Amino acid sequence: MRSTRALTLLLGAVSIYSVSARHVQKPFMDNLGPVMPPAASDPSATTPPDGGSVILCDVLGRDRSINIFAGFTRDIEAISKRLSDGQQNTTVLAPVNSAITNLPRKPWESNEDYNKLGADAYEGKPGEDRAHANLRTFVEEHIVPESPWPEGAKLKTLAGTEVWWEMKDGKKIVQPGNIEVTSTASKVANGQVWIMKGARNYA
Ligand SMILES: *[C@@H]1O[C@H](CO)[C@@H](O)[C@H](O)[C@H]1NC(C)=O
Repeated sequence: MRSTRALTLLLGAVSIYSVSARHVQKPFMDNLGPVMPPAASDPSATTPPDGGSVILCDVLGRDRSINIFAGFTRDIEAISKRLSDGQQNTTVLAPVNSAITNLPRKPWESNEDYNKLGADAYEGKPGEDRAHANLRTFVEEHIVPESPWPEGAKLKTLAGTEVWWEMKDGKKIVQPGNIEVTSTASKVANGQVWIMKGARNYA
């Protein structure tokens, strides 16, 4: 029973993480695989696809420091649709890979499920559905449906929780949670990707 569950979770992890692996052309060895350093010079990073205007889905996969989160966004259909829609602006709060691999549980696991259903919470089709729903909520907690996003403006993430940001000692901090933003370099036609040191609202 234990090994079945471990296998299921591992397969889940591999299928989710392989999405991002495909884009970096380097497979994760396992779900705690090595965090890859940002590419020093990625030739694709400066070339817009087919000369058109660049949008969020184009840039999200390019920065290797956030490729786990980028893979998650591609796994959730409603989110990947939004990020490929040039008419809808979004601020993507993307946690760095290490922030995700260091979480006490996988982002698709919840304490509530384990408390209610025990160790088999993610067995079978219902378990798979629960994992997918949890992952969707995790991603939605990191999607702010506006851009530009002025300092101090309290907005709701797609998951429905309130979020805002402020400057503190010269650093951009997302609240609640005091999460430092390390880069806001990716500004494109339908929004911005902010790279964060931590993950949001992970209870
Ligand atoms: C969407 O983002 C673009 C690029 O930052 C900006 O020029 C435009 O005003 C934004 N539109 C809305 C409705 O916020």
